Amino acid sequence: MAIRDGRLKTEMTDEAADYNSSLEFDKIIFEADIKTNFAHTSMLKNENIIDSETADKILEALDKLKEEGIDALVLDNSVEDVHMAIEKYVIDIVGPEAGFMHTAKSRNDQVATDLRLVLRERIRNIQIGILNFIEGIVEFAKDHLETVFIGYTHLQHAQPITVAHHLMAHVQSLKRDYERLDDTYKRVNLNPLGSAAMTTTSFPINRELTTKLLGFDGYLENSMDGVSARDFIAETVFDLSCLCTTLSKICEELILWSTYEFGIVEISDEYSSTSSIMPQKKNPDIAELARGKSATVTGELITILTILKAIPYTYNKDLQEITPHLWNACDVAESTLSIVTKMLLSVEFNEDRCLELAGKNFATATDLADIMVREKGIPFRTAHQIVGRIVNEASEQDLSEEDITSSYIDNIAMDLGFDKLELDDELVKKALNPLENVKMRKIPGGPSPEMVKLAMDNICIFLDEEYEKRGI
Ligand code: ARG
Repeated sequence: MAIRDGRLKTEMTDEAADYNSSLEFDKIIFEADIKTNFAHTSMLKNENIIDSETADKILEALDKLKEEGIDALVLDNSVEDVHMAIEKYVIDIVGPEAGFMHTAKSRNDQVATDLRLVLRERIRNIQIGILNFIEGIVEFAKDHLETVFIGYTHLQHAQPITVAHHLMAHVQSLKRDYERLDDTYKRVNLNPLGSAAMTTTSFPINRELTTKLLGFDGYLENSMDGVSARDFIAETVFDLSCLCTTLSKICEELILWSTYEFGIVEISDEYSSTSSIMPQKKNPDIAELARGKSATVTGELITILTILKAIPYTYNKDLQEITPHLWNACDVAESTLSIVTKMLLSVEFNEDRCLELAGKNFATATDLADIMVREKGIPFRTAHQIVGRIVNEASEQDLSEEDITSSYIDNIAMDLGFDKLELDDELVKKALNPLENVKMRKIPGGPSPEMVKLAMDNICIFLDEEYEKRGI
């Protein structure tokens, strides 16, 4: 074909052509490539670099292609990529003058531009998905402001919380995932067009104009950087990897909590499977797959960074190999976000079981130590030692929270060589009650219903602002 005829004597072997081709994943940038060509040709016309009549014919052909869609292209081994396929289409319609479209432009700046155009849309869509998920969780959590539950450290009973407080922790994480993408967007939405192969061009092109036509916030100020920078991709995939980590953690908890042993949540049947041999089984397949697929996104990040680290300036064909990993990361992140949103919002919490766990295993012991400090002025470390011994002995004697009285505490304090504390029995009871325990944590960021409500109000303000920015 024409582009090879000048310099090369023979065609590639079919195997080499297949290996070299990016056509399969170029489909994703098809529309963006028309846009880029359109903006570039319009600019060439505006700056009188090519004559108006030729430019109009090229623009018309591009419009026609846009209407006809990708099926109008010949996508076989006679072309290496979508850029060449589009050029061929335009030449077939306009004739050899269509070649003016490629004045002062290279596939190098073109592909970099196309990728940015598509990626900025994908980022915005994923961001909207995150906002919807946050909104859904907040609504869900409103019903659980007083649903007392157990919090874990080291996956061991730690302190009472509420279901709402726990869910709102995930909301904060999702909010950061959203903000990270917002920040990355600024570096994605920049125009490389005009960098040409790597050194711009001697034609008096107008980069401000293509920047405006393509809706970029600015242009890349070094042409070598323009054609070869792909850190905007690495950064996006890192953000997606963080998002998927958040989603995977949510799934991990749902998987644990839905076991017979935990018995905390019921995942809805729509997101569960059964076993082919064990008829009693209800398996959390979707949550497990989402947990597994999040590893794919992190894997794509490592692949991308590994390709990038050994690339001398400027364009090298290795860069083409990054693209399918980017789109795969976007696809997996987007589908995982969508399904985890629906799955989490359809679970049911077993409130009795949540309360039961919160009251067991001396999860309220920190507060018992706190009242010793508050009421009797003893150092927290001393209180910690006394309460630790109380838990130890009570467990050995098979006693539970309700059996701990002021005199029981004093016997242990004296055993350890401290004075009697003579705490009020009512106070002891209150400290050991999980709901009271949660209500007492009225510090900003804490689990008391009013503080969680405050955090929800703040998130709602954030959601309103972001929806407004995005015109939703
Ligand atoms: N298909 C190529 C890619 O995705 C387009 C740029 C080709 N440039 C070149 N010098 N061969 O990177």
